[in-house]
Amino acid sequence: MKPKILVFSGSTRKGSYNKMLAALVAKHLTIANADVTTISLADYPLPIYDGDLEDETGIPENAFKLRKLIETHHGIFIASPEYNSSITPLLKNTLDWISRIQLPEEEPLQLFHTSVYAVGGASPGAHGSLRGLMHLRTIMEVSLGCLVLPEMISINFAGKSFDENGDLTKDHQIKRLHKLIERFVSEASHVKLQDN
Ligand SMILES: Cc1cc2nc3c(=O)[nH]c(=O)nc-3n(C[C@H](O)[C@H](O)[C@H](O)COP(=O)(O)O)c2cc1C
Repeated sequence: MKPKILVFSGSTRKGSYNKMLAALVAKHLTIANADVTTISLADYPLPIYDGDLEDETGIPENAFKLRKLIETHHGIFIASPEYNSSITPLLKNTLDWISRIQLPEEEPLQLFHTSVYAVGGASPGAHGSLRGLMHLRTIMEVSLGCLVLPEMISINFAGKSFDENGDLTKDHQIKRLHKLIERFVSEASHVKLQDN
């Protein structure tokens, strides 16, 4: 059976390098025989997390929709830009809202403990989002309890690292991408999803 993999970017900006990276990963996952769903967080708007808002109106429907997508995919790939050496407010807010959902008879954060995760990032500068990815990894592994693969892809000097088709131009980055895709599809193939 083909593993189902969900792909999204922590930037929804027009011309986003991280959307390009997400699209490239989706393309290579499809070639590697995965069944890929690519979403934009722009289609799942959420208010900035506020405890009073949660008490008054509950967790927004879009957080439940995103939860359902996570629940029904064996693997999740997140492309994350770096803002001031950390992740974007959009991505943090999204993860924060989803983490607030706890269904009856569920362990805390159980949602995050089934699928396998992979991360990557792109930036126009020298850091290639690497410092942001370390924060993302800490949030996902230490706080949410996700299994995040050690293979990750960091694209620096993004303006020169993607060609006009959205493919990578540099051999060392292409090698890392292939390594990530191979391990990701293999690990996702072993994930057993809960019955939904
Ligand atoms: C608030 C803010 C902070 C940023 N901080 C960093 C940074 O710490 N390191 C970096 O390499 N780029 C930084 N950038 C530049 C982003 O990497 C760049 O805007 C990138 O294109 C964003 O990702 P996107 O193309 O997917 O939208 C920052 C951009 C913004 C708006």
